[in-house]
Amino acid sequence: MNHDTESLIEHAHPAGLAELPEWAEFARAAKAARIDPSRLAVINAAGIELDTSGQYASPEMAEAAEALLSARDFEGWRRRLLEGDIVNPTEDRAAWHTVLRAPALLPEVAAERQRLIEFIQTADTERRWRNIVHIGIGGSDWGVRLAVAAFGYAGTWRRIHFAANIDGHAIQGAMSGFDPHDTLIVMASKSFTTAETLENGRRAREWLEAAGVAEPCKQMVAITARPDVAKEWGIPENHIFKLWDWVGGRFSLWSAVSLTTALAVSADVIAGMQAGAAAMDKHFAEAPIHENAAVQMALCGVVNRSVLGYGSLNIAPYDFRLANLVPYIQQLEMESLGKSVDIAGNPVDVPTGPAVWGMPGTDAQHTFFQWLHQGSDGAPVDFIICAQADHGWPKHHRILLANCLAQRQALIQGKSYNEALRECLDAGMPQEKAEWLARHRVYGGGRPSNLIVLPRLSPYTLGALLALYEHKVFVQGVIWGINPFDQWGVEYGKVLAQGLTGQLAGTEACSPGHDASTAYWVDRLKGPCTDI
Ligand code: F6P
Repeated sequence: MNHDTESLIEHAHPAGLAELPEWAEFARAAKAARIDPSRLAVINAAGIELDTSGQYASPEMAEAAEALLSARDFEGWRRRLLEGDIVNPTEDRAAWHTVLRAPALLPEVAAERQRLIEFIQTADTERRWRNIVHIGIGGSDWGVRLAVAAFGYAGTWRRIHFAANIDGHAIQGAMSGFDPHDTLIVMASKSFTTAETLENGRRAREWLEAAGVAEPCKQMVAITARPDVAKEWGIPENHIFKLWDWVGGRFSLWSAVSLTTALAVSADVIAGMQAGAAAMDKHFAEAPIHENAAVQMALCGVVNRSVLGYGSLNIAPYDFRLANLVPYIQQLEMESLGKSVDIAGNPVDVPTGPAVWGMPGTDAQHTFFQWLHQGSDGAPVDFIICAQADHGWPKHHRILLANCLAQRQALIQGKSYNEALRECLDAGMPQEKAEWLARHRVYGGGRPSNLIVLPRLSPYTLGALLALYEHKVFVQGVIWGINPFDQWGVEYGKVLAQGLTGQLAGTEACSPGHDASTAYWVDRLKGPCTDI
C-alpha cells in the first residue's frame, strides 16, 4: 500500500454517517421539506439544463447540505479526483478519466491519441473494414454501444456488430451475414483477462481463419491496459492501443475504447464528446455548490435513497437514440455505489446506491409508468429530453415532449380524490359509481424527479451528460463515505464460475463445498454442456 493510500484511509471518516451532526441536520431538513411546484430550480451546466424543481427542497436543506459536504471534505475529494491523486484506495489508484478529455493532454495520452487518429484516418482513406465486430463487456462495451446508437442510428457505410455476452449466440449473431475478409475485430478489455472477451475473441479469430484469412490477427485490434498480454495473445504491436491503470473500466469510454465509435460514425464524435465532458468537468470544478449540477443531483439522490427510502432510480430518456443510456448509467451507478462498507472498512449506516433501471419514453409509459404513479413504492425519475430533434417531423417531437412533461407533472402534482370524483361526476356517472371509481383514479403525487434538457443530441451534449452523471456518482460516494471506483462484488462470482466451468466440463471433480442445489445442477447439466 503506498503512502497516499495509507493516509487516505487514516483520514477516512472514523464515525458512521448517521452519527454525524451535519447528517442529522440535513436529514431532518429533508424530512421536513416538500416538493414545491411553485419553485423553479434550473441550473445551466455546460449547455445542459438541469431542473430539480420536482425534488424535495427547502432553504434549510440547502444550508444543511453545505455543512454536510464540508464535513465530508467534498472539496478535498474533488481536488484529489481532478488532480489525479489516489481516490480508489482499495486498488491503490487514481481515477483520472477527466484527464483523458482535458484540453491539455498529458504527453503519453496525446501520443496514444495521435496513433489512434492515424489508424482511423488510414482505415477511412482506404475505405477499409466494411464491418467491425466490437468485442468487450461492461465498461468496454456500453459506452461504445451508446455512442454508436446515438450518432449512427440513421446508418453508416460501416456495419457494427457487438458481442459482449459469453453466450455463444452473441458472437454467433455478431459474425453472421457478412464477409470476414473486410472485417476488423476490435477487442476492448482493460485487463485483457475477462473470460467473455477472450473467449469471444478466440471465436472471432477462428472465424477469420476458417474463411481463409492468412494472418487473422492483422485484422484484429486490442485496446487494453495490458499491452503485453494482448501481444502474447497474438495481436500485433501496432494494433494495440493503450489505456491506463488509472482509468476505471466504466470510465474508459474516454479512451481508445471509442475506436469503434470513430470507425462507425467519425472521429469527430469522440472529440465532441470529450469537449462536452471537459466543459462539464470545468463546471463541476468551479460552480458554487448551490449552482453545481452534479452536486445538486447527488444531494437529491442521497435524500431520495437515504432519507426518503426509495430503493431505485428510474432513468427515462425521451429520445429513442439514447436507449443504451440506461444500461450505461446502470453500470456507472450500480458498480460504483452498490456498496455498504465505507473506505475505513465499516458498514455504512444509511442505505446507499439505489438500483437503476429504465427505458426510453414513450415505450416506458406503456410498460411500467403505472407502477411509478400508483405503485406502493414508486421511484424517483430522471427525465431526459432534447429540446430539438433531428428527424424533421415536428409533430412527433411535440408529442414526445408533451408526454415527458405530462408524466413529470403527474408525478409532481398528483390528482386528489376530489378532483378524480369531480371528473367521474362530470362524465355523468351515478354518485356511488363515481365514488368507487374515483378511488382508483387518485394519484398520490409528491414523487421526486429531475428534468434534464439537452438543446439537441450532439457529441458535445452527450459527453457533458455522461460527465454530469459521473460527477454525481462521485459526490454521492463522498457523502456516503464509500469508494465508488472499485467493484470487488463482481469478483467472487467470477472465481466460482471458473471452478464450475471445469466441473461442468468434467475435467474437475464436483467441489465438496457446493450446496446441495448447486451440486445437483452441476451433475444434471454436465451432459448438455459437453454434448453441444
Ligand atoms: O464486471 C467487472 C468489470 O471489471 C467491469 O468493471 C468492467 O467494465 C468489465 O468487467 C470488463 O472488464 P475489462 O475491460 O477488463 O475486460
